[in-house]
Formats: sequence, structure tokens, C-alpha cells
Amino acid sequence: MSNATDNWWRSAVIYQVYIRSFADGDGDGTGDIAGLRSRLPYLAELGVDAIWINPWYPSPLADGGYDVSDYRDIHPTYGTLAEAEKMIAEAHALGLRVILDIVPNHTSDQHLWFQQALAAGPGSPERERYLFRDGRGEDGSLPPNDWHAAFGGPAWTRVPDGQWYLHLFAPEQPDLNWDHPAVHAEFDDVLHFWFDLGVDGFRIDVAHGMAKDPALPDLGLTEFSVLTGEGQDDHPHWDRDGVHDIFRRWRAIADGYPDRRVFVAEAHVRPGRLAHYLRNDELHTAFNFDFLKCPLEAGPLREVIDRSITDLAAVGAPPTWVLSNHDETRHVTRYGRAYTGVRSALLDQGAPSDRALGTRRARAAALLMLALPGGAYIYQGEELGLYEVEDLPEAALQDPTWERSRHTVRGRDGCRVPIPWSGTTPPFGFGPPGSVPWLPQPKDWTSYTAEAASADPASMLQLYRAALRLRRAVPAFTGEAFRWLDSPHGTLVFERGAGLLCAVNLSDQPLPLPDACQVLLASGPVGDRLLPTDTAAWLQRN
Ligand code: GLC
Repeated sequence: MSNATDNWWRSAVIYQVYIRSFADGDGDGTGDIAGLRSRLPYLAELGVDAIWINPWYPSPLADGGYDVSDYRDIHPTYGTLAEAEKMIAEAHALGLRVILDIVPNHTSDQHLWFQQALAAGPGSPERERYLFRDGRGEDGSLPPNDWHAAFGGPAWTRVPDGQWYLHLFAPEQPDLNWDHPAVHAEFDDVLHFWFDLGVDGFRIDVAHGMAKDPALPDLGLTEFSVLTGEGQDDHPHWDRDGVHDIFRRWRAIADGYPDRRVFVAEAHVRPGRLAHYLRNDELHTAFNFDFLKCPLEAGPLREVIDRSITDLAAVGAPPTWVLSNHDETRHVTRYGRAYTGVRSALLDQGAPSDRALGTRRARAAALLMLALPGGAYIYQGEELGLYEVEDLPEAALQDPTWERSRHTVRGRDGCRVPIPWSGTTPPFGFGPPGSVPWLPQPKDWTSYTAEAASADPASMLQLYRAALRLRRAVPAFTGEAFRWLDSPHGTLVFERGAGLLCAVNLSDQPLPLPDACQVLLASGPVGDRLLPTDTAAWLQRN
């Protein structure tokens, strides 16, 4: 694609394809590249700029593919490298860029390197590529330190010869040793491999976790946020300054290509720290989890929006916005609960949710997100208004969280249920008739299919299509101009240059619309120039 659109990523709308659940071409119950290829025209019609594909590499799927056993190939269930190349070319022909997921913090325990490390034994060079240590206690039967794994339990597993290896996630995901030159060289090469194949960028998994304090000191904390290390300075494994050297090196690799290749960081870090990842010789953008996790309330939203824009502007990076992804409860469900933000799964899972209310608010949130300056992420199915499937049978649950939490946290399968495309019975066009999706779809998804939504002018899909069309057509969306306008308590009103306004009413009173404005798009009915509660509108000054 041309240099003229070099800065496409600064305002791109990127659609997240959780490939396992997107579309199943061969009928084995799991999504695949054939399915994705068949749905590319749908994505082009939706009006997104790029797709980000969750890991599609060979993997035992102990963590849905975030346990990679070969970084230069495609999982046979998803297809072949040749199909991947065709998919990339077809996406490009439709004007869609392609971003892959790279998982550098850990490999699968089935990766050749880890198997070699196990076979070679303690003290071997093969073990140096991971973080193997002797245990504590007289016979070494205690883990080397007190770190916790993100899915529950200790972050160490013992191997038969008595040593332990570190895994910040599941035991099937051993952490790599990023102090080892071979690890750097390997990932340099993996980046080149896919860039040479034509991919436009990478989403970097656990970008804040790759550098560890070599002393591996105890955390000594009983209470802390497992993902961010909240409340602890100089954390021994999250957000250490060492990660920035890695990203400078990666940036140089991306910049070695004549057309723009980009990175987006998945970095769960404390407020103010994200900008470090986006300095102009590091990564291009990062997910805005503060926005995703924020309750749908005007005050907190305004704070997060201000902070995001200001912090990142200081390093010249655009903000991004996201409401859902494959790790979080779908926002239709969150916004229908008494507490609309994201806290810990233990507090929120199964909390009662009013689906009609959640849907109304999700519509308003979509217009808010898509009106803000910078980039935005859409998680597959959110454009269909899908809700979290909270009643999956326990026997169907596959997220390692379920086992690792000793069946106390159900985990993330409820947002990963295969997409309903058409028809009135499962598999709803996800795969050919008679195929059985890897997670069961709710029966009432008849009314949530892309086919049903396309025929319904009031559907979530039509709202997303209209919003994305306007986002491209109205020049004020192109720039990064943004300013708040005065508005009553519980509401948000802002202007994006050239008289384009977005008004969001999260108060319990109707919000009078500004004078001399026409409504371009609204998330719900607008009565007599009054914007109802839980509704948003895009307006153009006359
Ligand atoms: C990221 C991914 C998540 C995965 C974890 C470990 O947070 O989004 O799905 O489980 O990393 O790779």
C-alpha cells in the first residue's frame, strides 16, 4: 500500500479476529483461514481499516493459542502458510491491513526450545533460553520465589530432574529469558519472516512482561494486582525499563521496510507509564485498557479520555480506544450491570445484567469511542451486539483460568463463543450445517446473526456501519482536534474540529441538544431535540 497513507495507523479502526471463533470453513467446529477469507468482504463492508488476528500459529491451545510451539507456521486446524499468504493478499486488495499477534514473553512447553531444555538438563545452554532455577528448601522442593501466575497458583513448575521453570501464565507457557541474545535473534527473525510475507504489523502480547529482574527477588506482597503490579514500584517482572531496549530494536526492524509497519502494545501498566512504550523510537500505539475498564459514567470517562490524550500527546502518539476483547466480559453485559466497569472476575462474574439496558449503553459507547480522536478497536461480534455467554456448561470451559483457579473463576470463554452469521439454529453459519462449534452458541442468537442484523435498520450492525461510513466521509474525523464543551453533570459533549460534535447522555435527565445542529447519527431515538438517557449522538453545526 502507498506511502500516501503512511499514517493510517494514527486513526485506524482495527477489527479483532479471534480466529478460532470467527468463521469455520471446513466444518471441524473451529474457525480457520478459509472461514476468515470468506468473510473479508463483510469486514470491508463494515468499514474497518485493518484486522488483528489472534495467534494462529501451531499450538497445543493450552491458552487459546497464546502458547506458541512454532512462530513461523500456521496451526493445521486453521490452514496453511500458503492460505495465510492468500488471505493477506485478499485483505490488501480489499483495502484491509493485517496485523498479527506475536507472543514473545513465553512459548508453549511443546516448543522445540523448551523440549530441548528439558532434555538437556540443569546447567545446559538449552536451559538458559528460559528461566530455570533450583528450588528453595533443603531438597529444593519449594519454588525459587513467591511469584504468582496470572491464571492462579505459583508461577513456577518443577520438572522431573528437580529444577523449576518460571511461567507468569499457565505452566504450559514457560517464560523466555530476554537476557539471552539467542532470544533476541530469534524474534528479530520471526518479525522479518512475517513482514516479508506482507503483514502490516504486530500486536505484542504481554509487552510489559518480557524483562525480569535477574535476581528474581520475592515480591513479598500478599495483595497486589496480578497483571499490573499495582502498588509496587520497581516490580521484578512487570513494566521494567529493560523492555524498552527490546522495542527500540523492533522499531528499527519495522522501519527497515519502505512502507509503514506498525506495533500495538498489550501493556497493562500503571497510569502514566504507557507513554514510555510509545516514544518515537519505540512502538506506535497501545491498547487503552483504562478506557475499557472505566465505568460508563461521565466523570470517570472524562478523566480517562483527558489523561489518555494528554499523556500520549507528550510523546507524539495517538490515543486508542477499546471496549471489549477476547480477555474481558463483553461490554453489552458489563454495561447492563449495577457496576459497569471492570474489576476482578471474582467480584463481577455472574452479576445480574439487564441486557436491554446494556445494549442501549453499548450503542452509546460505540458512538463515543468512534468519535474520539485516534484509533479504535472492535472485537468480533461487538458489532452484532453479542453479550457474554455466562451459562456455558462447565464441561465446555476451556480457559486455563477455570482449572488454575480450582473452579472458582470461570474465565474468558463467554466472550469467545463462535460468531453467528446466518440461519436460525446453531452453528448459525459459523460452519457448514451440521458442524458443531467448539463452544456452544446460545439458541437466541437467531436474532443476533449478521444476516438478521443486515436486514434490520435498527441493529447494532447498522449503527456500526453508519458510524464507520461517517468516520471516513466527514473531514473533521480525520484530524486529531478535540475539545470539551460545557454540558450538564452526567453528560459528555465534545467537538472534533469543523463543528462536528459528539454528545453522550449518561445522566438520568434528557440532554437538550445544542442549537443550530443537525443530527448525523444517534444511538437511539432522539425526541424533540432531547437526547434521552444512555444515548449518544453525532451532530454537525449548521
Ligand atoms: C494476553 C492475551 C491473553 C493471554 C495472555 C498470555 O493477555 O490477551 O489472552 O492469555 O496474554 O499470553
